[in-house]
Amino acid sequence: MALALPASIAGMFKRIYCVHRWAGVAAVAGLLAACVCPQLGHAASPVLTIRFSHVVATDTPKGLAVQRFQQLVRERSEGTMAVVIYPRGQLYGDTDEVQALQLGAVEMIAPSLSKFGRMGVPEFEIFDLPFLFRSTGDVAKITKGSVGRQLLRKLERVQLLGLGYLDNGFKQMSANKPLLRPSDFVGLRMRVQSSHVIAAQMLALGAQPVVLPFSDTQRALAQQVVDGTENPPSNFWTQGMNTVQSHFSLTQHGYIGYAVVTNPHFWTALSVSQRQLVKGALADALAYGNAIAQEENDKSLQALRDAGTTQIHTLSDDNRAALRQAVQPAYDDLEQRIGSVWLDQVYKALRKH
Ligand code: SIN
Repeated sequence: MALALPASIAGMFKRIYCVHRWAGVAAVAGLLAACVCPQLGHAASPVLTIRFSHVVATDTPKGLAVQRFQQLVRERSEGTMAVVIYPRGQLYGDTDEVQALQLGAVEMIAPSLSKFGRMGVPEFEIFDLPFLFRSTGDVAKITKGSVGRQLLRKLERVQLLGLGYLDNGFKQMSANKPLLRPSDFVGLRMRVQSSHVIAAQMLALGAQPVVLPFSDTQRALAQQVVDGTENPPSNFWTQGMNTVQSHFSLTQHGYIGYAVVTNPHFWTALSVSQRQLVKGALADALAYGNAIAQEENDKSLQALRDAGTTQIHTLSDDNRAALRQAVQPAYDDLEQRIGSVWLDQVYKALRKH
C-alpha cells in the first residue's frame, strides 16, 4: 500500500530535496570549473547542463527559439555550459513537465500561457480571451508592459520563476467540416488546452470541450475521440494533424504564446556570471523566436496548402463578427474568476499606441 504523506510534510521534503540538489549542482559545477585547464588547449567540456523540455516539434517557433538558446549558451560560455533539448514531449508532457521542473528533473520548460491557469495562476488566461488581440503587436503591449511583469511575478506563488515570453501566433479551428459560423460547432467534441477560458469559448459555441495533452491530440483526432481542435498552423502542420482533419478554417480567433520558466532553486544556485549569461542568451533567443514566429506559421500554412490534404477556408467579416459575438460568455467567465481590475488593466494597455 502506498504511504500517503500529509501534503504539507511532502511539500517540505520536496523543498529540502530541491535546495540541496541545486546547491550540490552549483558546488560540483564550481569544482569542475576550477579544474578546467585552458593551457592544455582542450575544448572546454560543459560544467553546467540545462535540460530544456518542451512538447512541440523542433521546426516550430518554440522549437527554433530553444535551439537558438542552446547555440547562444554554447558559444557565449565557450562550451562550459550546455543546453540539452527534449522536444516533442519525449521526456515530459503537459501533465508532468511542471512537476519534473519542481523536482529538479529538468531545468527549463516553456508551457503555453493557456496552461498556467491550471497551475494556480488563472490571471494568465487573459491571453486566451477570444478575439482580444488583433496582432502580436497587441500581445506585446501586455507581455512587455506592467501586466506581463506582474503575471511573471505571480508565478512565484507556485514555485516557478518566469524568465520571459515567446510568441507562436494565432489559432485557427479544424475539424472534418468547415467551422465558419457558431452553428457549425454545435455538438462537436473539441480538444482544448487546460484553460477555463478556452473551455468557456467552446461551450459558448455549443461544442463540448475535451482537455487532452498536446502530445495525444493527433492520435485522439485520428481515433475520433474528438472531432476537432484549435491550433496555429505551425502546430497543426508539424503534428501531422492535416492527415486526420479535412478542414482548416482561418478563424484567427485566439492567441497562443509561451512563458519560459525555471526552478527558483536552480536559478539562485547559479553564479552571478552564469545567471547573466543564461539571461542574455535567453532574451536574445526569445527575440529571435518572436521575429520568426509569423514566418514559420506562414510557411506551415503554405505547406498545408501544397499538401492538398485539407481544405482551407477564410471567413467573411460577417462570420467572424458572429463568432466574436457568440464567444462573449468566455469574458464573463474570466471576469468572475479574476476580477475586473485585471481586465481593465489589459484593456487600458491595449488602447496605448
Ligand atoms: C504548445 O504549443 O506548446 C502546445 C499547445 C497545445 O497544447 O495546444
